[in-house]
Amino acid sequence: MLPIDYSWRWETAQIPHECRGRGFDDWKIYNPSAEKAIAAAAAFAADFPEHYGRTSTDRSRVGKGLLLIGDHGTGKTTLACMTAAEIHWAHDNTIMYVKASRMLSDMRAVVAGNAGPKIVRRVARLRTVHNLVIDDVGKEYRTASGYVGAEITDLMRGRYEDGLPTTASTNESLEKWDEMYDPSMSSFAHQAFTIVHLAGLDMRRV
Ligand SMILES: Nc1ncnc2c1ncn2[C@@H]1O[C@H](COP(=O)(O)OP(=O)(O)OP(=O)(O)O)[C@@H](O)[C@H]1O
Ligand SMILES: [Mg+2]
Repeated sequence: MLPIDYSWRWETAQIPHECRGRGFDDWKIYNPSAEKAIAAAAAFAADFPEHYGRTSTDRSRVGKGLLLIGDHGTGKTTLACMTAAEIHWAHDNTIMYVKASRMLSDMRAVVAGNAGPKIVRRVARLRTVHNLVIDDVGKEYRTASGYVGAEITDLMRGRYEDGLPTTASTNESLEKWDEMYDPSMSSFAHQAFTIVHLAGLDMRRV
């Protein structure tokens, strides 16, 4: 049997180059919150099909994802991508990475009818991929209109209802999510995500 070409899979899943092929073994514990974060992510990845994914029979957790909250450089993007990679390696479930700002500009292009076939396919996959990573939720808010802001909450709610867990990362507090999106967002976040706080050093400066 031919070996699996993971480089092609990371490309299809749009995993950032720096994170490709990196799993939990590559995670370094720099501060106490990192230890808790990696434990939560590892439990999520290990239990993904049985408890979180579409094939789950566990009604209490089906569709529930991970929300990584923390300051710049605390490892959110790294941990989100490692978690997706582990889910793919261990369970062969499909994964995809998008930045919230890029995702919204793609969605806008589709609605306006001027997206090419690649973007149309990418937008369609947002609602079908087993584990979607939406990175930097909130950064898009400064530039996007209210309508586009509603698109992101609609996607997260739809995926949760369809039993498709999302891993989201944000620099913003959940109180700020209520202000940015709608007043029920922080309440929804507690239902739809295991919330993981990353704190400590900016790893880009160490
Ligand atoms: N636990 C870790 N082990 C090894 N390297 C790490 C770890 N966490 C982060 N890094 C490295 O530190 C840098 C910053 O991490 P990352 O981009 O994941 O932070 P972030 O929280 O997503 O930041 P931002 O909010 O600015 O997007 C990256 O180069 C990443 O490879
Ligand atoms: Mg990041």
